[in-house]
Amino acid sequence: MSRQQDIKGLQHNIVHYESTGSTNEDAKRLACEGAADGTVVMADAQSAGKGRRGRKWQSPVGSNLYFSLMLKPKFAPDKASMLTLVMALSVVQALNKEMGDAFDYQIKWPNDILVNGRKLCGILTEMTMDKGSIKSVVIGVGINVNQEQFDDEISDCATSLLIEKKRIDTQAMIPERVELLKAVLEFFDTNYERFCRNLDLEFMKADYEASLVNMNNRVKVLEPAGEYEGIALGINEQGELLVQIPDGSIKEIYAGEVSVRGNYGYV
Ligand code: BTN
Repeated sequence: MSRQQDIKGLQHNIVHYESTGSTNEDAKRLACEGAADGTVVMADAQSAGKGRRGRKWQSPVGSNLYFSLMLKPKFAPDKASMLTLVMALSVVQALNKEMGDAFDYQIKWPNDILVNGRKLCGILTEMTMDKGSIKSVVIGVGINVNQEQFDDEISDCATSLLIEKKRIDTQAMIPERVELLKAVLEFFDTNYERFCRNLDLEFMKADYEASLVNMNNRVKVLEPAGEYEGIALGINEQGELLVQIPDGSIKEIYAGEVSVRGNYGYV
């Protein structure tokens, strides 16, 4: 079941489902059906929540924030991957606004958000194209808000705002999910507007790097062709991770096929 919903102050058309398969799939379908640029699909539960690399995203009812923002940008397809970094920073900014300085949020390049070395938020960006142009970009965001337990296979590396609140016994209030959504969209709108001016990440590079858990840390880069180690030096204006390898040269890592691992709990 869906209903249209206006959230004061937002230009976004919000489509809300009590339960759905995947909000990313809904957003892609709505894009094909002519939904407007900026449409947001949110759900209280997902039966087929999707993570990156074909993984599942646990989406129990009523506890977390699951939403997908659908955009119909006019820029070239090779710019779209930067939007995941724009969203990652927007989520960190929103969490800081909503929860004060209760937690230290860290971004694991390109777009996982960690607290205490455990994953709090994941982002899955999917693009559909038509004759070489972008038809839609769907940025799906899952933020673990009130979940108290995770399945065995991820219980060591996943966390939620509620788990972290109990761990450090902070008085900070956990935001209502809709308030968190509203804050994320407000920050995203500002960041997206700035991104669209030059189609690069120069405007947010310093803020992104300030939260980057990989910064100046040893990382292992797993590419289809093989793996190597180096020190992460930050990102460039295209959102690629800069990794200095032992011969002193610097590799620019594009997010696509690559996995980056480091020594910070969650890999
Ligand atoms: C990851 O693997 O880290 C990405 C997880 C993305 C999960 C979100 S929840 C809302 C949206 N709908 C989905 O099916 N996936 C994304």
